[in-house]
Amino acid sequence: MSLWGGRFQDGSSAMFRRVNDSLPFDRALASQDIRGSIAWSKAIYKAGVLTQDEQQQLEQALQALLVKAEADTLDFDASSEEDIHSFVEATLIEQLGDIARKLHTGRSRNDQVATDFKLWTREHIDLLVADLENVKASLVGTASNNKTVILPGYTHLQRAQPVRYPHWCLAYVEMFKRDISRLRDLRVRLNQSPLGCGALAGTTYPIDRYEIASELGFDSPCLNSLDAVSDRDFVLELLFAASTSMMHMSRMAEDLIFFNSGEAGFITLGDEVTSGSSLMPQKKNPDALELMRGKCGRVFGSLQGMLVTMKGLPLAYNKDMQEDKEGLLDAVTQWHICLCIACEVIDSIKLDSERCAKAAREGYANATELADYLVAKGIPFRTAHDISGQVVLAALEKKKAIEELSIAELQQFSDLIEDDVYAILQLDYLVDKRSILGGTGIDPVTKALDAEIAQNK
Ligand code: ARG
Repeated sequence: MSLWGGRFQDGSSAMFRRVNDSLPFDRALASQDIRGSIAWSKAIYKAGVLTQDEQQQLEQALQALLVKAEADTLDFDASSEEDIHSFVEATLIEQLGDIARKLHTGRSRNDQVATDFKLWTREHIDLLVADLENVKASLVGTASNNKTVILPGYTHLQRAQPVRYPHWCLAYVEMFKRDISRLRDLRVRLNQSPLGCGALAGTTYPIDRYEIASELGFDSPCLNSLDAVSDRDFVLELLFAASTSMMHMSRMAEDLIFFNSGEAGFITLGDEVTSGSSLMPQKKNPDALELMRGKCGRVFGSLQGMLVTMKGLPLAYNKDMQEDKEGLLDAVTQWHICLCIACEVIDSIKLDSERCAKAAREGYANATELADYLVAKGIPFRTAHDISGQVVLAALEKKKAIEELSIAELQQFSDLIEDDVYAILQLDYLVDKRSILGGTGIDPVTKALDAEIAQNK
């Protein structure tokens, strides 16, 4: 059943159906569409379009469809309907006849699809927030289990200064917290109801737009009908939130791939999240992490695609906008999968604390400490930096660490260097001296970790 046959003499071509039909993907909006229709039936009953009995029959049939939609047992494959809206309407008409033909009074698929997709987005925001909370919990878990481990911190992928492992974990917790807050912001912004806006100009029927908005959990009605039916900012914003969060996961994956490499050897990953090589029996590859990194391409692509789709559209609805769905559905699916596998990967991490500490000691990560030591003895920082650099150069030539140089060797660069220098060059000492808020010392790290644990309780 086409929803718009009356004015047409010929049917659609097969190729037109192929380009135009959206049921193959907007079937994902079935339960939202049905819930929207239940609310609409109540609104048009109150507006005098339906009798109470008609409304009840419609609602009953829609509730039965909703049960099937939620159990994923609606028979879409046998349907030749154009989209989810015509599918639901045709199914109702088959069951109820003329009563069901009244349901679309005062409504357009334009306000309908905007409503459905907002409801879908809102529900997925809630699921994704839960996914992100799980990743945070996994990071807090591995941090708590390996509280004292120290590993090198990097800039330019050069060993820079040592950091505690929980500090590394909590850096990603901060990113995922921002992802959550982005989703929560979006949830507030999108939560206005398009119903009652009709095709573009509003409806002539006396629909209580406030009531139908709250019936569907919206905070208020959209205030402009042209905007209401053609706004897809919420799609773009969710794609941006997905892209940003995938970028965070990708950076985490990149760090972990490196930590897991033969060269670093800081961590090993569980068999359950790695794969072997068909040729090289010794290999254990971090595929899950590589896919978290790799799937960014399609998610970022969907954001870009949607921006381009929207940029030239005149007000109000245009069929181009049907292209909003596949990209977002895919991005959300990939994001969800990656967040779930991220938890499994993180939970499987086993640290080699000896190798971490050894690497943290190597690479002259305590050179800044030596400079600060000289500053404490009255030397201006720039001069101290220079002296420490000369010490590093000499140590490099001797293939030694700074702390392996004798006091006589050290004093060649400054006679202010004394025996007490060896204590400040020790790994734990120099890490824990960074006790400032946000620093990597054991005190601020423990506080930050405790705060996260308390919040998750
Ligand atoms: N399948 C359409 C979409 O997703 C529904 C809205 C159709 N509206 C229209 N005026 N043809 O955008």
